[in-house]
Amino acid sequence: MLNYFDPREYRIDPNRDLGTPPALSETAVALTIDGVEIHVPDGTSVMRAAALAGITIPKLCASDNLEAFGSCRLCAVEIEGKRGYPASCTTPVSEGMAVHTQTGKLARLRRNIMELYISDHPLDCLTCPANGDCELQDMAGAVGLRDVRYGFDGANHLDAETDDSNPYFSFDPSKCIVCSRCVRACEEVQGTFALTIDGRGFDSTVAAGQDEDFMDSECVSCGACVQACPTSTLMEKSVIEVGVPEHSVVTTCAYCGVGCSFKAEMKGDQLVRMVPYKGGDANHGHSCVKGRFAFGYATHKDRIKEPMIRESIDQPWRAVSWENAIDFAAQRLKGIQAEHGRESIGGITSSRCTNEETYLVQKLVRAGFGNNNTDTCARVCHSPTGYGLKTTIGESAGTQTFDSVMQADTILVIGANPTDAHPVFASQMRRRLRQGANLIVADPRHIDLLDTAHGGEGLHLALKPGTNVALINALAHVVVSEGLEDTDFIARRCEPGAYNTWREFIQEEKNSPEALEAETGVPADKVRQAARLYASVGNGAIYYGLGVTEHSQGSTMVMGIANLAMATGNLGREGVGVNPLRGQNNVQGSCDMGSFPHELPGYQHVGDPAVRERFENLWHVKIDDEPGLRIPNMFDAAIAGHFRALYVQGEDIAQSDPNTQHVEQALTSLDCLIVQDIFLNETAKYAHVLLPGATFLEKNGTFTNAERRINRVRKVMAPIAGKEDWEVTQDLANALGYAMNYSHPSEIMDEIAQLTPTFTGVSYAKLDELGSIQWPCNAEHPDGTPTMHEVDFPIGKGHFAVTEYVATPERSNRRYPLLLTTGRILSQYNVGAQTRRTENSVWHSEDVLEIHPSDADLRGIRDGDWLGVSSRVGQTVLRCRISERMLPGVVYTTFHHPGSGANVITTDSSDWATNCPEYKVTAVQVEKVTQPSAWQKHFQSFDRRQHDYLEHSSDESNFAIK
Ligand code: SF4
Ligand code: SF4
Ligand code: SF4
Ligand code: FES
Repeated sequence: MLNYFDPREYRIDPNRDLGTPPALSETAVALTIDGVEIHVPDGTSVMRAAALAGITIPKLCASDNLEAFGSCRLCAVEIEGKRGYPASCTTPVSEGMAVHTQTGKLARLRRNIMELYISDHPLDCLTCPANGDCELQDMAGAVGLRDVRYGFDGANHLDAETDDSNPYFSFDPSKCIVCSRCVRACEEVQGTFALTIDGRGFDSTVAAGQDEDFMDSECVSCGACVQACPTSTLMEKSVIEVGVPEHSVVTTCAYCGVGCSFKAEMKGDQLVRMVPYKGGDANHGHSCVKGRFAFGYATHKDRIKEPMIRESIDQPWRAVSWENAIDFAAQRLKGIQAEHGRESIGGITSSRCTNEETYLVQKLVRAGFGNNNTDTCARVCHSPTGYGLKTTIGESAGTQTFDSVMQADTILVIGANPTDAHPVFASQMRRRLRQGANLIVADPRHIDLLDTAHGGEGLHLALKPGTNVALINALAHVVVSEGLEDTDFIARRCEPGAYNTWREFIQEEKNSPEALEAETGVPADKVRQAARLYASVGNGAIYYGLGVTEHSQGSTMVMGIANLAMATGNLGREGVGVNPLRGQNNVQGSCDMGSFPHELPGYQHVGDPAVRERFENLWHVKIDDEPGLRIPNMFDAAIAGHFRALYVQGEDIAQSDPNTQHVEQALTSLDCLIVQDIFLNETAKYAHVLLPGATFLEKNGTFTNAERRINRVRKVMAPIAGKEDWEVTQDLANALGYAMNYSHPSEIMDEIAQLTPTFTGVSYAKLDELGSIQWPCNAEHPDGTPTMHEVDFPIGKGHFAVTEYVATPERSNRRYPLLLTTGRILSQYNVGAQTRRTENSVWHSEDVLEIHPSDADLRGIRDGDWLGVSSRVGQTVLRCRISERMLPGVVYTTFHHPGSGANVITTDSSDWATNCPEYKVTAVQVEKVTQPSAWQKHFQSFDRRQHDYLEHSSDESNFAIK
């Protein structure tokens, strides 16, 4: 007897499609299928039960990621005691049921159904791009169809026109069998509702939007419909061009912090398509346009394919061997340290690189350079999360799995735009909202999530930029003053002294929604309504993004969020929690791996002698006990002349950091800048050594996503320049005289596990066995920790922190009357270096300035005008888009294109605790202009010159290290 009742007892092969989703009932039902006895949860379909028993029932309209629909009837079965031939996908099992899936009558019925489908289908299987990968073809074979009695001359859809408007997939309606899997995938999996079935009966067709081209519809190109389609109607263009893939490797997307798993499907050594992997614990087989389609940058002609060096940035590059490039870099670094001291050099790790690579760069700095001058791009995004969460709940990480959102009753999204920045998680969130959860969005801008059809209440708290702390205090004030606290949780889990101090503070009248209404711009009654929804309707879950952290009070706001969660007992179980939505793929990992100047891996402070001793024993060096320089300090020290050399792996600080002109001045001041990247990025234009980087497809390693989930990155193709990134860091360490001798990233992970208490149970073998692991993974939690803080906090009791609101100095005034805030959009990623080199640019070819109609009217501005945007540090010029998404007085732009100069205007105002820049608030003025800004003109000529230097690089025939 097969027992599939307890899912912990078995693992289902993610490559199999069991036909319908699992049932979650806790009651077991016993039945027989073709004589095989099986136990399954009540509510399971006959089709799924049969599949679990190893019996395949033919199907076309069913798939186990969609609710059963019952339209094709191919899955008919016979059930003893029941009349007719019920569809097995829509028929639930019942106790004692006896099912027969293979009888003469069923065989005839299924052949007849297939015959009807095939009579309206082009018979071009041999030349069809899906030949060999087509469910219709498979089913025709499975039911034994050999002939079509009706002929092919009757009414059909064979000359329907193909829609090729989407850059990545085509829609050929002549092959459509109207199974509606695509429509249901768009609704149920993606949550976009871009597709419908138009017409009835024979005239039924799939229509995008209002019967438009896919590109003109609401379609966001996630690919869910393409994956769902059982025919070649919806098909990746790459498969049409290259052919059906032959083999695959499971790996992890290198774009955002969701960390979706994909099957990289190959033909020979060519990557044909990325198919979201159903076994991926973060994405369960879903994807967004970036991970699914935007991988073409990996083979783009702009890839740096050989190491290069030069004496000064006013010289062309010289292509040299790896050995010579590494020697050149090492000699420069040694020379600078000899002349200017140990502290005069440093390194920057990358949140796009793997954990192992990041670990190695900070190790190189601490052990090879002999100082703690290491930092990472999290400095400019989530460093306040580290500070704020460590102070209050003791661990710098999100508390939940993504799946936990399915248990949330009220979802509070603060300063995040999940549909654009974390799209696959947004689809899951939308599913929960459709089931009836309440939604509260605190954001100056109207985000798409607010337009999601949902069962519960939806509230938009459109606060003024820079007033987050005032809003969180007002919400907490309502919780305390209206008696909505979870007193039991507070008594059990929180320090009483800190709690009482905080309670006294938060009750003060100055923190009431009424007192803060003028400051935040949010009506007091809305704040009260939101607080009641979050605090008293079952499970309240908070998700936040860079709209929380990138402020002068970023760390205060993170603490305010933790206070609110503790006060309402919304921590330590499924459906609740405090969840930073991490931007880049491995921001969590780069922080975990000790990238910050004050912390060794696992957030262990360099000032702690016991911690240092463990590292020193394994690394065989003395570790400096003083924290090193943060990125902004490195820039200041470079300009002041104390800091002379920098190794930057996979980051583009010249584009991504604020106050571009200040950054450029710092980079130009360096004697030696070593950049390791896949392209000549903005930072590399200031470099003396350019080391080719490897894409995620070209290496082994791990990424850690926003749920603390460690996922394997597996090599799909050979590195274009011959080395994975960790090998380059190792070579540099060895050339500097600090020995590193790893032969595979798994050995680096073994070392990480030895030194990091939250990683002691992590190994590649365990990752391969479990698929992924959420840290902490150690003796206490051998298989990882999906939900944190269930029993206590790492600091024992939760610590309430007083969060006094201090208005940002970056306020609007007569000279700069508008507030600029920045963000991302779905199709582009971060500085755009990857996505700009893909077809994704069709959706976003330039950054624009969004401005409210009233502000535009006041200035005589029309849509499409060129606007000069000036702040107290600089000016740039962007094209105008008039939009009602913002409040009056607020303008918005993205920073995906370097020439836009969005960061020329952002200032170096920053978070008081961590120096995270205040990207989200810059006081600006806008006016109509006719030409680019002075900075943009300089950028264009510098850019041309640097590309010229690259194109005219010489080889190493006349190379000699000086
Ligand atoms: S690609 Fe995604 S959004 Fe577009 S129609 Fe298909 S499922 Fe819907
Ligand atoms: S396009 Fe594909 S998935 Fe959609 S109805 Fe047609 S055959 Fe079914
Ligand atoms: S949601 Fe993020 S991780 Fe997933 S496919 Fe998109 S970019 Fe990649
Ligand atoms: S698979 Fe069951 S009706 Fe189509």
